[in-house]
Amino acid sequence: MHTILRKQFLAHVGQTSPSPMLVEVARAEGSFFYTPEGKRYYDLVAGVSVSNVGHANPAVVRAVQEQAARYMHIMVYGELIESPQVAYAARIAAALPDPLESIYFVNSGAEAVEGALKLAKRFTGRTELISMRRAYHGSTHGAMSMMGAPEGEEWKGAFRPLLPDVRAIEFNDFDALQAVTRRTAAVLVEPVQGEAGVRLPAAGWLEALRKRCDQTGALLIFDEIQTGLGRTGRLFAMQKYGVTPDIVCLAKAFGGGMPLGAFISSKKIMDTLQSEPVLGHITTFGGHPVCCAAGLAAYDYLIGNGIVEQVEEKGALYESLLRDHPQVREIRRSGLLLAVELGSSEKLYRIMELFKEAGILSDWFLFCDKAFRISPPLTISDEEVRDSAQLIRTCLDRL
Ligand SMILES: Cc1ncc(COP(=O)(O)O)c(C=O)c1O
Repeated sequence: MHTILRKQFLAHVGQTSPSPMLVEVARAEGSFFYTPEGKRYYDLVAGVSVSNVGHANPAVVRAVQEQAARYMHIMVYGELIESPQVAYAARIAAALPDPLESIYFVNSGAEAVEGALKLAKRFTGRTELISMRRAYHGSTHGAMSMMGAPEGEEWKGAFRPLLPDVRAIEFNDFDALQAVTRRTAAVLVEPVQGEAGVRLPAAGWLEALRKRCDQTGALLIFDEIQTGLGRTGRLFAMQKYGVTPDIVCLAKAFGGGMPLGAFISSKKIMDTLQSEPVLGHITTFGGHPVCCAAGLAAYDYLIGNGIVEQVEEKGALYESLLRDHPQVREIRRSGLLLAVELGSSEKLYRIMELFKEAGILSDWFLFCDKAFRISPPLTISDEEVRDSAQLIRTCLDRL
């Protein structure tokens, strides 16, 4: 590690935690990244579910290079016809169930959530917004407001006042759905709760939520920022659970490694951003042509190589290789999104140190400090799953 670089990193790159990992990245390829000294790390975070098609995927690199040479940014979103945007929008619209057909491209997950909340308020003329306890939707003021209380209070408390008229209900609680009323503009939910430590929806709960929204006229917004683009074993988690929302938010893997997000609805709903007043949401860089070209190339790679179809098997392989270790209390899993529960935060701190030594990048969850994350590139091979699981077991042995 270059000492000067480390000093400059600490001095000049805004810090968000008192103990950053401080591992320098020289390059990345497939399921790995490498330090300048040549130490190899298994990337079991994938940029937090971003690098679904693997690092330095040649198809994505080529698309970025070609589009960068053709044109980059020209004019704010929504005025000019830019073929990478149009082609990607058409592809995604065709893959999503009806009536999710109109795609508003933005820069990030948080901005997708902001756009979706504004759209729901505009379309319904209502103000109340409902989210779930232990939900994470992003770090801007609006998205942070939806971080479910009381757990989210630790982060959002310091930034109040936030959005008014927001309340949180318990994920998977059927009775709590009565809180959704004719006052409610939207209910925002991750179909599989990520930062809660991978919590799966109870049988029938998403359907019951859909039904309650239909009864009351509230819009149902799915945050598929982490679950979208194959992570759970289907292209979108909504297909896995057979429930179609009114609006879906995408980001993370949506840009193929470049920053890109979207909120998506029927044309009827989306068109309310056109008038009274015009320009209901404005973004300079949203839908950047290079990001759309990268996202489209990554999407075509996922589909063209049957990657999504292999996700469930690979996730199950990880589970089978780890579940019998005496340190593992429980594994919660949806496709290749796994939370491995160790039972205490002390063990979690220690395993992170051991992982670093062993060349494994993992992470914990915002609302679950007793479990570590496994969410590798979806292109990880069976052999890499076996090898990384063996490395994890060696670290677990040393706990
Ligand atoms: C479910 C979910 N929603 C929203 C976000 C926010 O996305 P971004 O960091 O791109 O703003 C995240 C990021 O971790 C997420 O996991």
